[in-house]
Amino acid sequence: MSTFKIGILGPGSIACKVSDTLAQMKDFQVYAVASRSKERAKAFGNRYHCEKIYDTYEALASDQDVDLIYIATPHSHHYEQTMLCLNADKPCLVEKAFSYNRKTAGEMIALSEQKHLFLGEACWSRYNPMYHMLKDILIEKRLLGRLHSITVSMGYDVKGIERLTNPELAGGALLDIGLYPLGFVTYLLGSQPVRILSSCARFETGVDAQETMILLYPDGINAHIFATALYGTERTAYIYGENGFIKVNEFSCPTSIEYYSNANELMNRIVPSAKQISGYEYEFLSARTAIEQGRCEPKEMPHAETLALMEHMDKLRANWGIRYPFE
Ligand SMILES: NC(=O)c1ccc[n+]([C@@H]2O[C@H](COP(=O)([O-])OP(=O)(O)OC[C@H]3O[C@@H](n4cnc5c(N)ncnc54)[C@H](OP(=O)(O)O)[C@@H]3O)[C@@H](O)[C@H]2O)c1
Repeated sequence: MSTFKIGILGPGSIACKVSDTLAQMKDFQVYAVASRSKERAKAFGNRYHCEKIYDTYEALASDQDVDLIYIATPHSHHYEQTMLCLNADKPCLVEKAFSYNRKTAGEMIALSEQKHLFLGEACWSRYNPMYHMLKDILIEKRLLGRLHSITVSMGYDVKGIERLTNPELAGGALLDIGLYPLGFVTYLLGSQPVRILSSCARFETGVDAQETMILLYPDGINAHIFATALYGTERTAYIYGENGFIKVNEFSCPTSIEYYSNANELMNRIVPSAKQISGYEYEFLSARTAIEQGRCEPKEMPHAETLALMEHMDKLRANWGIRYPFE
């Protein structure tokens, strides 16, 4: 198999974690990096032995040898940078949140489909085989029987990170953290709840610091979500049904899935494959497969789902009165 060459756009915190993983993947290469800063590009390029080191994003987008550009910058910049790369005929994998609103996300997807170029959201959870196992157990095999509710929380103490609090960078807990539990619920229960109730608390900058969301589905099924950028939480998801409940530990990249009876007895436990590197590998394997098969969206996270998630986040922000300065 030939080597699949990744170009990194925005060599920051997540780009390093992802590149640590790419460096351990067979037939993948951290081929090029682009930063607005020559020093940052060089430091990253040397660390990951990149063949090409660029100090403009345009130069990376024009590189004829890159197979996929991974966009890892703040949410505010994904739109502009994705359009740049797609217009240069480059497939892209874009970090979550895919963009800052539904309108720009729609334009990005429309351009990828018009040019028939791969474009995917790097929402790593969705590519994790444990997610597919979970859906199979719950929806296909109906282990819990009829589902009743989901409770899921996710919190990190990231209040000191500017990207999270600055409205100019499309900050806020929802786009950074809340989209994981929201995406978890819509993945399992469907992206069209009957109603969403919600409330948020804000940072002094005006963007959301934490939120509670209740998603109501037909037949009384409901989901309770809590997300915060103020402090750490257990990051566990509970799915309740008529035959007991399932607990998903570290639900965004599960460390285990446990099935308990209605009497609270542990009945079964599934853990990740021993071959898993970090969990970041799956989105790149999926992107490569899609590109090689000539598809412009990932099988695990279709464009329609990215758009549905963006639309929910638009409506939530509208309810809270949060609008980014550039919208
Ligand atoms: N999947 C996950 O587990 C995960 C985890 C963390 C973050 N993320 C996502 O990854 C993306 C990047 O997050 P990060 O924490 O890695 O970001 P970061 O380290 O703060 O920044 C990454 C890069 O973005 C550019 N950048 C930073 N601040 C900027 C600004 N004020 N204006 C313009 N560009 C700026 C810089 O690129 P230059 O070097 O070119 O200037 C920087 O190298 C976000 O979408 C985030 O939600 C995902």
